Amino acid sequence: MDVMQQLNETVNYLKTRVNNTAKVGIVLGSGLGNLSEVIEIEESIPYGDIPHFPVSTVKGHGGKLIFGKLGGTKVMCMSGRFHYYEGYSAQQVVLPIRVMKMLGVETVLLSNAAGAVNPNYKVGDLMVIKDHISFFTENPLIGKNIESLGTRFPDMSEPYNLELVAKALEIGKANNIELHQGVYTAVTGPTFETHAEYRMIKIIGSDVVGMSTVQECIAAVHCGLKVFAVSVVTDLGIREGNDVITHEEVLHAAKQAEPKLTLLFTELAKSIG
Ligand code: HPA
Repeated sequence: MDVMQQLNETVNYLKTRVNNTAKVGIVLGSGLGNLSEVIEIEESIPYGDIPHFPVSTVKGHGGKLIFGKLGGTKVMCMSGRFHYYEGYSAQQVVLPIRVMKMLGVETVLLSNAAGAVNPNYKVGDLMVIKDHISFFTENPLIGKNIESLGTRFPDMSEPYNLELVAKALEIGKANNIELHQGVYTAVTGPTFETHAEYRMIKIIGSDVVGMSTVQECIAAVHCGLKVFAVSVVTDLGIREGNDVITHEEVLHAAKQAEPKLTLLFTELAKSIG
């Protein structure tokens, strides 16, 4: 089916379920679903009920689209996202972002768990994404361009909105939360990287690496949404010793750092609304 037809069906269904005028959309990353507990929920819709929404298959990811208020601001929040490595096409991965746009969202706040290749980062640190490298993943705009969403060749000189970055840094300062700023490189996963791959990812100019976010950012920029994104460092790619990285460790580290992310997103939503 045509992407636009799918989008229209999804949007029309959601309009029958909610009367929400959220300007802020949120996507919660692996192990970062707790934020949904501080949202004053108006409506919570399981992905399985929503036409064309894929169902998240990964442990640590919920599967609900939540409408409500965060910090007094109306939001719609994906508790659980879709990853390319689950077998969804890049276009399916970004469907919810486009749905957000079509429902009136203007700004998206994205979060993810990521591995650090910057040796100054520690597990549990937060990094505000200032730029990304997308070359190792499929660009979600490949295929016939949907002119009603955006242009064929979008500019990517400011993928992450600098005003939102500045606001986040202020919030960090005021609340004693250290925030790095850096470059996120997207990979497909689902394997974690080899030592050689982590080294290469560092050499090409990244600070962290992860399996999400960038396709969503590209689709968001394409359709004119402002993007803010933050990574929670859940493991160290560049490390001494021979330890292994596990999904459980990633989820555990995300959970530990989660309160900082909740505060940051709550304050950002408040300041936007
Ligand atoms: N690599 C890729 N994706 C990740 C990692 C990592 O080390 N940690 C969390 N997501």
